[in-house]
Amino acid sequence: MKREKGEKERLIDDYGREIRSLRFSLTNRCNLNCIYCHNEGEGRRGESGEISAELVIEIARVASAYFDIRRIKFSGGEPLMRDDLVDIVQGMRDFEDDISATTNGVLLSKYAAELADAGLDRVNVSLDSLKEERYDFITSSRNNLPKVIDGIYSAIDAGLTSLKLNTVLLKGINEDEIISMVGFVRECNNRGGGEVAILQLIELIPSFNPSMLNYKADFYGIEAELKSKASAIKTRRLQRRRKYFVDGVEVEVVHPMDNTAFCANCSRLRITSDGKIKSCLLRNDNLVPVETVDEKHIINKLRLAMKYREPFFGKKD
Ligand code: 5AD
Repeated sequence: MKREKGEKERLIDDYGREIRSLRFSLTNRCNLNCIYCHNEGEGRRGESGEISAELVIEIARVASAYFDIRRIKFSGGEPLMRDDLVDIVQGMRDFEDDISATTNGVLLSKYAAELADAGLDRVNVSLDSLKEERYDFITSSRNNLPKVIDGIYSAIDAGLTSLKLNTVLLKGINEDEIISMVGFVRECNNRGGGEVAILQLIELIPSFNPSMLNYKADFYGIEAELKSKASAIKTRRLQRRRKYFVDGVEVEVVHPMDNTAFCANCSRLRITSDGKIKSCLLRNDNLVPVETVDEKHIINKLRLAMKYREPFFGKKD
């Protein structure tokens, strides 16, 4: 069924960056309300209709068939709020190599097994604190942390691995939890009987909410600490992300702000929850709406969106 790679058109932008994955925001509804949330760069919540399951599947199919893109990530809002997520995953499993979702985990214990059966490969779970009071503060919610921990265990049991735990580091709030997070990942690995989970420490992007600048953690200090504790350090080619191995646990640092290498290696196109192709997380002025479930239309819109791609940090020359 799959054709040779060389036979397909590639989506490559003017900066030589090839698209290798699509990231669909399926909804901007969310059952949490995190203080720092950039809402995938979509601006305000709940203003327009949600992209249909049919259109999501068709965009993915066209991207796979014509442009050889076979990696899909679902985000939100909270993607598990879509009650047709299982159908969406099921509808594209035959032509995708890797389907993942970024979730807050609150509903994960309910859906992990079903999603894995439908063809979901893995999940990233946002977990910003292991202390209930802090978790509640960050997420502006109550009583959810135990559900998220349960969700993570269910995902491991269902084989939705490798599972990434996403922690956005916030100054004065959760910076002191890196080692306890590492301990939790170790517990996850024990449960999964191997290296099933990794920790991703994410730098806060404050651009959509300037008051968040106060919470910006000192990433260089944190990296220095990781360096001193690590038994090994590797640099990932993609985005030159560094991976530290601490107490047998892989800790990856995601540092997008002012990082020209982050942009230079960007290989994803985003689709907003209302069905527009978005060339960059940090830009909203060049969205390309996909209006119909029509192959030619989708091909043209994908090509058009490529013309708008430009690194946000560090332009060419
Ligand atoms: N800065 C950095 N990462 C963010 N995320 C959401 N908002 C921000 C922000 N302002 C990321 C986190 C979260 C995922 C859903 O999106 O990684 O886990």
